[in-house]
Amino acid sequence: MRVLFVCLGNICRSPTAEGVFRHKVREAGLQARIEVDSAGTGDWHVGKAPDARTRQAALRRGYDLSALRARQVCVDDFARFDLILAMDVNNLRHLERLRPAGGGAELDLLLRRCRLAPDEVPDPYYGGEAGFEQVLDLIEQAGDALLLELRGRL
Ligand code: 4NP
Repeated sequence: MRVLFVCLGNICRSPTAEGVFRHKVREAGLQARIEVDSAGTGDWHVGKAPDARTRQAALRRGYDLSALRARQVCVDDFARFDLILAMDVNNLRHLERLRPAGGGAELDLLLRRCRLAPDEVPDPYYGGEAGFEQVLDLIEQAGDALLLELRGRL
């Protein structure tokens, strides 16, 4: 099972989702069965490590995101991944437009998939520190629900 998390820049929300979910998968001993990656719909930050505020907030909760590097989502991702989960509706629309004829990966909003409210993980980039904590709160909850779903599908 291969899961790809997608946001706009791939330096805040989706690398957080990648790091948190990879941690949960490892804790569950499922690292050989579930592959995790992240990407951005935009290309401004390609090659960069996650935002320093994202890295610091994640590290305070025990997630080391320092080795991650941003990349842009591409058409091949629809063949490489089983499930592509977008952080917000704009990213989902972008992915729907990029999706090749014939489908490939299943596409959804992360929080909708996990039946959490609100539907979107808010973009923390232009806000204060509380936004980065909220991203982690939402993603940790979603990660538990997603792991439960994937366990049932393995
Ligand atoms: P992300 O956050 O999509 O969660 O990585 C953002 C990062 C960068 C920008 C916007 C959102 N930006 O405009 O550069």
